[in-house]
Amino acid sequence: MNRSKISVALIGAGRAGMIHAGNFRGSVPHARLAAICDPVSDAAEKAAKELEVDFCCTDYHEVMEREDIDAVIVTAPTKYHCEIVLAAAEAGKHILCEKPMAMTVEECSLMEKAAAEGGVILQIAFMRRFDASFQEARRLIDAGEIGDVVMVRSNTRGPSIPKPWMYDISKSNGPLAEVCSHDIDSLRWFTGSEFQSVYAIGGNYRCPEAREDFPDFYDNVTLNASFANHCQGIIDGAQGVLYGYDARCEILGTRGCIYLGNTRENSVTLCRSDMRKSGEYINSWKYLFRDAYCEEDRSFAEAILEQKPPKVTAHDGKMAVLVVNAGNLSIREKRIVRIEGEQLI
Ligand SMILES: NC(=O)c1ccc[n+]([C@@H]2O[C@H](COP(=O)([O-])OP(=O)(O)OC[C@H]3O[C@@H](n4cnc5c(N)ncnc54)[C@H](O)[C@@H]3O)[C@@H](O)[C@H]2O)c1
Repeated sequence: MNRSKISVALIGAGRAGMIHAGNFRGSVPHARLAAICDPVSDAAEKAAKELEVDFCCTDYHEVMEREDIDAVIVTAPTKYHCEIVLAAAEAGKHILCEKPMAMTVEECSLMEKAAAEGGVILQIAFMRRFDASFQEARRLIDAGEIGDVVMVRSNTRGPSIPKPWMYDISKSNGPLAEVCSHDIDSLRWFTGSEFQSVYAIGGNYRCPEAREDFPDFYDNVTLNASFANHCQGIIDGAQGVLYGYDARCEILGTRGCIYLGNTRENSVTLCRSDMRKSGEYINSWKYLFRDAYCEEDRSFAEAILEQKPPKVTAHDGKMAVLVVNAGNLSIREKRIVRIEGEQLI
C-alpha cells in the first residue's frame, strides 16, 4: 500500500453502515469515504447526499470494479456478507465486515481463504474490543489483578423488537447471532480460550405474533459454556426488552472480579425524597459504543496503511459463528453440544 490515504466504500447504508460511514467521512485519519452502495436506490442516494459523497450505486460489483477504492465496509444484512466479501477479496479490496461474519462456518472458511489468497485484510467488526473499558479490563487481566480468570458472564439486551425476517431461526440464526455475537467474542477474548461445550435455552416471551408460524423462534436466550482452559462462561441475550440497551460483563478471577458496562446516558443519579432514584438508561448501542466504532475504523485504516494484521481476525469471526451454531443446535435438541475443532458433536 503506497498511498498515504485510503479510499473506502460503504456497502449497505443502514443502521450500522451509517455509523462507519460517518466515521470514515470525518474521524479516521488518512481515509476518505469515496462511494456508497445500497440496492435500495433511495437509501444510497440519501446517504451519499448526507455524507457528501460523489459516487453511489445499487450494485456492489460496480464498487469492486473501481481501481481507486482500496477498502470496503460490509454492512449489508448478514446473509449477504459471504458473497460480498468473496467479491471484494477477489477484487483486491481490504475488508471490514460487520458481525456476525456469516451464516455458517463453511462460509467463514471460504471468506478467510479468499482474503488470504487475495492478500487483503479481513477484519471482523467486534467493536467492543476497541472500547476503552473493555481494553482496560483486558489490561487488568493481563496484569494479573484478578488472578486467573475463572468465569466470564456477559449480557446484551436490546430495546428493539425483532424484525419478522428473524423469526425463522434456520435462516436468520436468531438473537444468538445478531445480538449475542458480541458476548461470544468477549468470552473468547477475556478467557483467552475457545469454547468447548455449550448448553443453551431459548424462549419467545415478547413476540406472540410469531408463536404459531415460528415455534422455534426465541427472543430470550441463556447459554452456559465450558472452555478448553477450564474457564466457565454465561451469556444472556434478549430482544425487545423496552427498558434500554443493556450490555454488561463480569470477569471473575481467583483473586478478584472486574465489572464492566455502562447503562447510563451520563453519570448523574437523582435521588428524591420519595426514595426514587433516577438516571436515564442508554437506549442504543449506537451511543454506548460510539467511540469504540470510531477506534475500530481507525484501527482498520491503520492496519491497511501499516500493512499489519487486523486486531480482530477472520478466525475470531468464524469461532463466534461456530458458537452461534452450537447454541442454536443446543436449543433445538435440548442438549449439551460439544465443540471439537470446527465440528459440533
Ligand atoms: N456491530 C454492531 O453492534 C452491529 C449493530 C447493528 C448491526 N450490525 C450488523 O450489521 C449488518 C447490517 O445490520 P443493520 O442493522 O445496519 O441493517 P439495516 O437493515 O439497517 O441495513 C442494511 C442495509 O443493507 C442494504 N442491503 C441489503 N442487501 C444488500 C446487498 N446485497 N448489498 C448491499 N447492501 C444491501 C439494505 O438495503 C439496508 O440499507 C448485520 O450483519 C448486523 O448484524 C452490527
